[in-house]
Amino acid sequence: SEAAVMDLKKIIRSIPDYPKTGIIFRDISTLIAHGPGFRQAVRQLAAPFLDQKIDKVVGIEARGFIFGGAVADLLGVGFVPIRKQGKLPGEVVGQDYELEYGTDRIELHKDAIQPGERVLLLDDLIATGGTASAGVDLVNHVGGEIIAAAFVIDLPDLRGADLLREKDVQVHTLVA
Ligand code: PRP
Ligand code: HPA
Repeated sequence: SEAAVMDLKKIIRSIPDYPKTGIIFRDISTLIAHGPGFRQAVRQLAAPFLDQKIDKVVGIEARGFIFGGAVADLLGVGFVPIRKQGKLPGEVVGQDYELEYGTDRIELHKDAIQPGERVLLLDDLIATGGTASAGVDLVNHVGGEIIAAAFVIDLPDLRGADLLREKDVQVHTLVA
């Protein structure tokens, strides 16, 4: 028997004034705590890529690890983490990206992706696209081929998905 299709929006919690006044924070902790909801989100994230010969799923710290690990398992491929600066022990490539105030840096192990490997980038949410765009640059830098970037949540007013598409990256999102 098949489970009913869930409205994922209903299990994503919105918290007003976090991390500061005027921001409505979209909180996926309620979605991942919901068994059928989490399972549906993982399957919907992976669905367009089941026949795309993906070699690696690359997930962005921290919430990209939760969805990325599950999608990698579903696709039967390896998972590669992109981490905040200073967390990966091997040789890394790094990329700075813009935050609201100042910049941050994310890193990728140089040997985690082989040249020509077909990569699906995963994160929980795309806002300005700064983080995902830096992730795309890192994967390209080590010779990987970005097939697409997938997110549970798109905040379309912030234009991040548009930014990625302008860089010729296919973007797959579940809820806006
Ligand atoms: C959030 C989110 C994305 C990023 C999206 O992570 O999980 O990675 O911001 O924003 P952007 O599109 O404007 O770059 P955050 O930086 O809060 O890091 P965390 O997951 O480690 O808390
Ligand atoms: N939720 C989670 N992460 C975020 C958000 C949000 O609303 N905005 C920017 N990063």
